[in-house]
Amino acid sequence: MRAVICSSFDQPETLTVETVPDPVAAAGEIVVEVHAAGVNFPDALMVMGQYQVRPPLPFTPGGEAAGVISAVGPGVSHLQVGQRVVVFTRTGAFAERLCAPASSATPIPESLSFEVAATLPLAFGTAMHALIDRAKIAKGETLLVLGASGGVGLAAVMIGKALGARVIAAASTDEKLALCRTHGADDVINYTTESLRDRVKAITNGLGPDVICDPVGGDLTELAFRSIAWGGRHLVIGFAGGAIPSLPLNLPLLKGASVVGVFWGSFEQREPVANARHLSQLMDWVVNGTISPVVSARYALHESASALRAMLERRVVGKVVVVATH
Ligand SMILES: NC(=O)c1ccc[n+]([C@@H]2O[C@H](COP(=O)([O-])OP(=O)(O)OC[C@H]3O[C@@H](n4cnc5c(N)ncnc54)[C@H](OP(=O)(O)O)[C@@H]3O)[C@@H](O)[C@H]2O)c1
Repeated sequence: MRAVICSSFDQPETLTVETVPDPVAAAGEIVVEVHAAGVNFPDALMVMGQYQVRPPLPFTPGGEAAGVISAVGPGVSHLQVGQRVVVFTRTGAFAERLCAPASSATPIPESLSFEVAATLPLAFGTAMHALIDRAKIAKGETLLVLGASGGVGLAAVMIGKALGARVIAAASTDEKLALCRTHGADDVINYTTESLRDRVKAITNGLGPDVICDPVGGDLTELAFRSIAWGGRHLVIGFAGGAIPSLPLNLPLLKGASVVGVFWGSFEQREPVANARHLSQLMDWVVNGTISPVVSARYALHESASALRAMLERRVVGKVVVVATH
């Protein structure tokens, strides 16, 4: 089969597509014929050696995939060949087939496309875990989302609306903000052309947002935190902007506010039952039209580097997928 190979921690353009042996399912494993793999910012960081986890080289990037089970290993009785599933594996998804623990697979409903299913575990799972488990967001609270048209950002906009929050989307261009409006944002802020602080103040009548979803970091973090409401929760999700910010600790003191860490990858491992419940809820929401994940571009295996580059250059809206042809 063909797979994308990362042989050294370097720029995405050094990735190659190679013919490698077909994976074989060992005990407790399945082989999935990949139809679509979700592309996430952490994939780019992993290829460049800048992620928390450095897989042993060489490895195939791509953390999540949706497809059809083509083999089941000994001891796997709850899944069958031919079943449509989505899996989260951290690596291995930018390939025609991948081997995964059977426990990492979730069957997907017939009405859910492979492409949409492939975007759910990481980006939507992170936004879900952040808003529900970490922020404990309540109906009627105000949610400010930074980088709101990105993978985690747009998921937070949609999930925030589904949970009954008033959502303020903040992003760098009017085009990105128009997409956020389409997916339910009540108010929008262009932080390239407008003052984030002034606009948040005006939109919230000076009260500030109860919850801030922050996958961007850099200077935006402190700017946003300075506007947070009394008792607010600032969700630290990632640093797509590059810089890991510091925050003067008098700010949370003055607002009785919390800085709340979010690490979905650890949550998914430590609390698999809760994570499975979230994924099931997400699939229900997609099927009944409560949320509509955006797949804005499709890349072939040999174009994986372009997908990661688009992400690093801030050109992705919603989600993009790598699509293997069989
Ligand atoms: N903690 C967790 O469990 C967890 C899980 C998943 C992802 N993450 C992290 O969350 C962050 C976002 O991931 P994602 O998959 O949602 O990425 P994404 O789709 O690329 O979205 C990131 C957004 O950040 C903004 N941004 C600002 N400066 C940027 C820059 N220099 N380069 C790229 N984007 C920039 C962009 O919006 P504007 O152009 O509108 O500013 C972009 O839409 C990453 O740091 C990722 O590692 C964390």
